[in-house]
Amino acid sequence: ASTLGASAAQSGRYYGAAIAAGKLGDATYTGILTREFNAVTPENEMKWDATEPSQGRYTFTNGDRILNQGLSNGSKVRGHALLWHAQQPGWAQSLSGSALRSAAINHVTQVATHYQGKIYAWDVVNEAFADGGSGARRDSTLQRTGNDWIEAAFRAARAADPNAKLCYNDYNTDGVNAKSTGVYTMVKDFKARGVPIDCVGFQSHLGTGIPGDYQANLQRFADLGVDVQITELDVAQGGNQAGIYASVTRACMAVSRCTGITVWGIRDSDSWRTGENPLLFDNSGNKKAAYTSVLTALNAG
Ligand code: G3I
Repeated sequence: ASTLGASAAQSGRYYGAAIAAGKLGDATYTGILTREFNAVTPENEMKWDATEPSQGRYTFTNGDRILNQGLSNGSKVRGHALLWHAQQPGWAQSLSGSALRSAAINHVTQVATHYQGKIYAWDVVNEAFADGGSGARRDSTLQRTGNDWIEAAFRAARAADPNAKLCYNDYNTDGVNAKSTGVYTMVKDFKARGVPIDCVGFQSHLGTGIPGDYQANLQRFADLGVDVQITELDVAQGGNQAGIYASVTRACMAVSRCTGITVWGIRDSDSWRTGENPLLFDNSGNKKAAYTSVLTALNAG
């Protein structure tokens, strides 16, 4: 096929993009979005600070705009992210203990209920494991409410929306390493105890290389009985950017439970790391060599 989404769909997958509500009035942006992608993720609009700016007061306007943009185009919508140590509203940052735990679980319930039946996959918990080679949990106010906070979040999300795939999402987990093995151990335990989890998201914010065991890492998670999704892909320009994008595509295609890939933005100018020109379209919306390498890999079947 001649577009990313249609080519991914040939193998039952999606090729998606993170999008910003504030850019939906940009015709170049929405033109590429509707032509090329069959999945969307709100870059910021469904985060805790955006959806519950004060306790018990919910603001879904911008999240709904992203949802409706996706659904109107027949795209899958990934929800991002129900609980995360970052981008919390000020009122939540000052909570701890049982007050934080109940506020956090209520947040999961309220947001997942609002979007019930419309979200393909939720990043229920984002970035709960620490960097630095320990494989341990990240120290955060949420972690300090008790080690079972992640399990509680997944159970609340399942109760609120039985239809959404429930994902754990993280970064620097793109090969076999202490952090990805920490996640692996948690997922294995969840599956053994019947804690509802359906997928693991690998953000894949890559530099100028890709771990040699990238595919093997995806496969070991799939072998636990969960889907794997590449959720925030971008690749620094300057190395073999096109080749790395192709390698990620081929790895996902080779793992049957890899359900799709999402790039974290559309044009280089839309990126959170815009200085590295890490995306598939240049600032003017033209296709880069990386775009062509992805399309070729998707069509290789
Ligand atoms: O909305 C406010 C606006 O009102 C204010 O005027 C402006 C200046 O202070 O800030 C705006 O909020 C910014 C928000 O993006 C929306 O543009 C925040 O400051 C800024 O920190 C936030 O950055 C986002 C970042 O997550 C933190 O939430 C990036 O756009 C987004 O690309 C990035 O994405 C994360 C994923 O969610 C999780 N994985 C890592 C990835 C990259 O950091």
